[in-house]
Amino acid sequence: MGWTYCVIWFLFWSVSECWQLFNSQRVIRGEVQSPQYPRPYPPNLLKQWDLWVPGGYQIQLSVTHLDIKASWGCHQDSLSVLHDQKVLGKFCGQENSNDHPGKEPILSQGNSLTLIFQTNNSTAELQQHIGFAAIYKAVDVDECSKQDPGSGPLCSQICVNMPGSYHCSCHYGYKLHLDQHTCLLSCDSCIFDKHEGRLSSPGYPDPSPPFLSCKYIISVEPRLTVTLNFTDSFHIESVDAQQGPRCLHHWLQVTIPDREPMKLCGGKSPGLIATNSSIVRLDYHTNNEGLSHGWSLHYSTKAIDCGEPKPLLNGGITFLSGLQNQNRSVVQYHCNEPFYSFSQGTNVYFTCEADGKWRSNHTDVPPTCIPVCGKPTKLISAYQRIIGGREAPDDTIPWQVLLSVDGQRAGGMVIADRWIMTAANVLTYNGNPVLKEDVRIYMGQTDIKTLQNSPLFAASVHVHPGYNNPDFLDFDSNIALIKLQEPITFNSSIMPICLPAEGATYVTGMMGLVSGFGLTDFGRRRLLTNKLKYVQLPVVDQETCTDSITVARRTKDRAPSLTNNMFCAGVPEGGKDSCRGDSGGPFILRDDGRFWAAGIVSWGIDCGRQGTYGVYTKVSNYLDWINQTMQEN
Ligand code: ARG
Repeated sequence: MGWTYCVIWFLFWSVSECWQLFNSQRVIRGEVQSPQYPRPYPPNLLKQWDLWVPGGYQIQLSVTHLDIKASWGCHQDSLSVLHDQKVLGKFCGQENSNDHPGKEPILSQGNSLTLIFQTNNSTAELQQHIGFAAIYKAVDVDECSKQDPGSGPLCSQICVNMPGSYHCSCHYGYKLHLDQHTCLLSCDSCIFDKHEGRLSSPGYPDPSPPFLSCKYIISVEPRLTVTLNFTDSFHIESVDAQQGPRCLHHWLQVTIPDREPMKLCGGKSPGLIATNSSIVRLDYHTNNEGLSHGWSLHYSTKAIDCGEPKPLLNGGITFLSGLQNQNRSVVQYHCNEPFYSFSQGTNVYFTCEADGKWRSNHTDVPPTCIPVCGKPTKLISAYQRIIGGREAPDDTIPWQVLLSVDGQRAGGMVIADRWIMTAANVLTYNGNPVLKEDVRIYMGQTDIKTLQNSPLFAASVHVHPGYNNPDFLDFDSNIALIKLQEPITFNSSIMPICLPAEGATYVTGMMGLVSGFGLTDFGRRRLLTNKLKYVQLPVVDQETCTDSITVARRTKDRAPSLTNNMFCAGVPEGGKDSCRGDSGGPFILRDDGRFWAAGIVSWGIDCGRQGTYGVYTKVSNYLDWINQTMQEN
């Protein structure tokens, strides 16, 4: 009992006070003597000693000397020893007399003892008896050897007696309950964070106790994954059902984050379980039905390495977090802006997952960078030979292509990393497509001299099948595509022009921009330009244009016809136009800050002539053919 109080002291007051109490208990001893000892005791006495030792101790009293006047039943003079008002002994007489308690010490039941020394004066003779002397000391109570008849043993497992107290302790694998008495199986709240280790059912290889509810958590660094390896001797009580054993009363549940938990039971070892996770939880459950012989496992870990993430063409990878390329590492893909970008909703964050793959939202396919079209890094500040045009500053018309077909100059435009769009009349000769070997392709510069240093070559040429223009009077479907041998990497000087949006409109009066290396003068001085030129021209109403051709036919005997696959651009007073050598080049319009290829330079009655307009292939009518040709080749 004393220990329990001490524990409470310990908890609520201080260690030192607890020890003071404990120490004082150890030295408690003392002497009791009759008054005037060793001289004869006086008459008419009633003296009482209350002896007390701390709880958890008993008092051992030894009467070392006794000399009390003897009387029948010691009813005259006596020494009485009492505990709790119960008389343990009443003594008188001399040493070795019948009434002498002898050398046998008296042991108190509790931790107190009362001595009463009583004398009377019934005798007149001179009192010669000298009384008694006794010594006492505190002796430890062995609580462990006592049984509390009401509530069973003091300790459910091990009782340790201590001076003045006792305490309970438990066998290995058990822990003491808060009641300081009961031992409980300690099979949970243990986190295994080492890279490998061993786990087994409580008491293994002995059968598992009933009513277990054990929890084990293996938690290692996120870059590692845990593999469980169960030993062959595996037995968890199961109930045979039609679909195989059912884990009814006993089971071992393996839980991996974000996955269905699996319940294990039966007599067959699960062997290896690769969890692909750095955290695994095991719950072992038994009840009092059936018997499980238990299980044992060894777990190991291995580091996940996803390797280098797949490179991104025209983009790059930024490492964001985690250990390089290991489990849970995160990278971010990016495109080389402003020339490339992801399509909307593209996953750009990839995580190295436990199966060794880079993933983003369940896909392991890296994103692709798509070229940005129609957004030059430099804009022509003021829109205004080409005829009547201006020199284009570098990087303002980066889709412009100069073609040299069998020595003839023509225009074109970049529409994809391997595709150039131009006019059919540029790529045909005598009604047949030209040889791809005869085509030289130049781009990225505005000066012919530097441009001509680096020709690109065609992998194939694709003239629209509807183009049939034997005597230059039918420019319908004047459109063609060239596939390049190598894809182009875009930058500020080479960039594709956007194709028209589905259902794009050509509004009369809308200002467009036409560009090329063609003739700058259609008069006597027919000069080819060495610098890229551009001119700003409005879209012309279809009827106005048809009328202008009808009028022109009066002076020119023959002129081609305007079809719905063409539109016109220009000014009635003339002086601004595309011309020979510009064919195949771009007429662009701008929407939402993006330029798109509205037309391809096609034909005209002379160049820049008053009352006539330049005629352009209406690109929006050929979207299907363009897309199909690019897909199929
Ligand atoms: N077909 C001419 C060429 O091969 C282009 C004519 C453009 N004419 C015009 N007046 N806009 O270069």
